[in-house]
Amino acid sequence: MNNNQTPHRLNIRMIISLILVVVAIGVWSLYLSKDDTPSAADNSRALIGGAFELTNHKNEMVSDKDFLGKYMIVYFGYTYCPDVCPMDLQIMTDSMHHLPQEIANKVTPVFVTIDPERDTVEVMAEYVQYFHEDLVGLTGTLEQINTIKKAYRVYAAKADETEDYLVDHTAYTYLMDTDGSLLKHFNHGEDPEQMASIMATLIK
Ligand code: NI
Repeated sequence: MNNNQTPHRLNIRMIISLILVVVAIGVWSLYLSKDDTPSAADNSRALIGGAFELTNHKNEMVSDKDFLGKYMIVYFGYTYCPDVCPMDLQIMTDSMHHLPQEIANKVTPVFVTIDPERDTVEVMAEYVQYFHEDLVGLTGTLEQINTIKKAYRVYAAKADETEDYLVDHTAYTYLMDTDGSLLKHFNHGEDPEQMASIMATLIK
């Protein structure tokens, strides 16, 4: 090893690691200044939700603004779903019925289709009748549905290309705050009573 090169190499290494530390501190402080002491809850609160324009099951154009001021419990699925969606919509319905009436009155239950090609306004109108009396069915163009799917971080994809195709999809039920931000999400197959008691503690 050449004695002249060693300190030189060390210097370059030191300079590079110094630069890396400075860059890391810079990135970290940028991150911190963006969102004061971010927590996982704050992050998901900010990540889920957003603007949308869709058509409800009464064939009226609606947007996210029409739902502000009330809490929203929202599920994404499709009416041809053989099991998961009807089960979760029944759980949503039951949880709403477990809520004290004055709290339930503050919540709009919403079902958004991720299969707008088959879930027309007429199909949605028929389907929502099987669940909560206030359930709002939302459909739209493929583009409109893609927008709300992105906003709510929903994954959905046709499982096959047959006429009676199934759709793979995430099965979360979101409780949204009166300002349209996420309060809480529930997983598939939640216990309705448990869900109602959690909702009751979050709804003011
Ligand atoms: Ni489903």
